[in-house]
Amino acid sequence: MHILVMILLSVHALAGVFWVGSTLALTHSYFEVTAKLFRAQMAAAAIAVVAGLALWGIVIRGAQGPMTQTLALGAVLALIAAGVQGAMRRAPVRAQRIAAVLLSGTVVCMVIAPYVT
Ligand code: HEM
Repeated sequence: MHILVMILLSVHALAGVFWVGSTLALTHSYFEVTAKLFRAQMAAAAIAVVAGLALWGIVIRGAQGPMTQTLALGAVLALIAAGVQGAMRRAPVRAQRIAAVLLSGTVVCMVIAPYVT
């Protein structure tokens, strides 16, 4: 089980890093470049979300408390960011800027969660 958690956490973090990193970079980009990366971003988002949900099922397993609430807040911000990127395809650079703020919140929530008491 530990091996599975380590694999899922690695996949989760790698996909998340690509999703968030490309989103931050594309805030200073152009329509064409942003549109070209859309599918790769959404694929990374899907992998991060699926691995995150699997981790939730294995590691959290119904536990409640400040750590879980912080992770949940980060997850909700990530899902809203994915929705914004998917819905605002006619204004992709603006979508990246909104998503960048939301996903920055996600990263902060994910990394501080173990220390929130
Ligand atoms: C729906 C979206 C998401 C869900 C459900 C989710 C869920 C989780 C869960 C349950 C953990 C805890 C794993 C553990 O304690 O072993 C975690 C950790 C983590 N998540 Fe997410 N996550 C999501 C999105 C993201 C995104 C977009 C990123 C972007 C980089 C991210 C980065 C991380 C990192 C770096 C950790 C490790 C934190 C640590 O242990 O120090 N997550 N996530």
